[in-house]
Amino acid sequence: MWGIVLKPVKVGICGLGTVGSGTFNILRHNAEEITRRVGRSIVVEQIGARQVNPTCDTTDIDMTSDIFDVANNPEIDIVIELIGGTTVARELVLTAVENGKHVVTANKALIAEHGNEIFAKAQEKGVMVAFEAAVAGGIPIIKTLREGLSSNKIEWLAGIINGTGNFIMTEMSEKGRAFADVLKEAQELGYAEADPTFDVEGIDAAHKLTILASIAYGIPLQFEKTYTEGISRITAQDVAFARELGYSIKHLGIARRTKAGVELRVHPTLISQKALLANVNGVMNAVMVKGDAVGPTLTYGAGAGAMPTGSSVVADIIDVARTLTADPTNRVPHLAFQPEQLSDLDVLAMEDVECGFFLNMMVQDRAGVLANITQILSNNGISIESVIQREGSDLVPLVVMTHDVKERNMNAAIAAIEALPDVAGTVQRIRVENLA
Ligand code: HSE
Repeated sequence: MWGIVLKPVKVGICGLGTVGSGTFNILRHNAEEITRRVGRSIVVEQIGARQVNPTCDTTDIDMTSDIFDVANNPEIDIVIELIGGTTVARELVLTAVENGKHVVTANKALIAEHGNEIFAKAQEKGVMVAFEAAVAGGIPIIKTLREGLSSNKIEWLAGIINGTGNFIMTEMSEKGRAFADVLKEAQELGYAEADPTFDVEGIDAAHKLTILASIAYGIPLQFEKTYTEGISRITAQDVAFARELGYSIKHLGIARRTKAGVELRVHPTLISQKALLANVNGVMNAVMVKGDAVGPTLTYGAGAGAMPTGSSVVADIIDVARTLTADPTNRVPHLAFQPEQLSDLDVLAMEDVECGFFLNMMVQDRAGVLANITQILSNNGISIESVIQREGSDLVPLVVMTHDVKERNMNAAIAAIEALPDVAGTVQRIRVENLA
């Protein structure tokens, strides 16, 4: 069929867990389609794994328990890093790059925390490090942002980028299931991180947001500057009040360009029940990107699991295989912008971020309590949108929704409200976004 038959591209897979098995099985099952797309076949030359995976038929594969055998194997063109973590994985990737091999990885922590170093090394060695599977599993959001939307200035992006967290929030709010029970199911389904606090406390989402923001704005990866807040303190009462006011609570990663700099933040967020993202449920992920030319866009799909994540890993292998014969200077840059064109745009401190707030507190049901609270809000330049107060004896819940205000003002107001003798305990604060 083809004039010249190119020799197969040889890949080595490191790690044969959930994503490794999906990657291996997709390469096997879709081999014919993949060969037709690439123009040459892709062969799994070697697998480095501590143990075999019963879902993979590896009888004819060279197996090794030392993943560095794969990074040092002279036969291998592309090393697929699927072991996770940031220490051994960093060493493995740098070894492969040093050996002149291309790398495909699904490791968001590695890219978010060590990507600047890895990309610099890859640039020096003229190899590619591809990482589509690191963000939102099966959704091709890296490719969309880096290539499909490359004509735009990105104004903002907001995503549900942790499937486990979304699964937990959805099951808790729709079925009233217990937190621990839902988390256990997510672990059994292979969605959760090895340390599930990464999911629940927003660290996983912060890794992914860091990567998306760098590609959106052409800034170096700055995980340490990403504000990170998890879902573990959200109560059933918060969910119920939000619903009554016409909102859903979603755990969002948000990056926004403002005149002062870039906002990078992961936190539970109230969004209108009518917003598209409010209807992204279960383990599904979705990312909205607002470009100045295209307007708002939405990509949606499975954010975790063997086959969806394997889908992105294999797409990267195909991309790398296609460009093996191309001039390295014509490749799409790792972070979408030419490396020497990365900008030092400031990442804003959380105190300088502006948004609406949902405040939920327990107060004494006495004359003047609401007046004192509204006075404090007014003193801090905070305008109220709506208030709900419940009947009760003694302590009653009070919910206040505000218009947009700087976090700095809200911090001062909350400190003053919590100091009032009629307010019991702390004020629950959840940020509100209109995604407009
Ligand atoms: N633990 C992650 C999630 C896996 O739940 O989304 C995919 O990165």
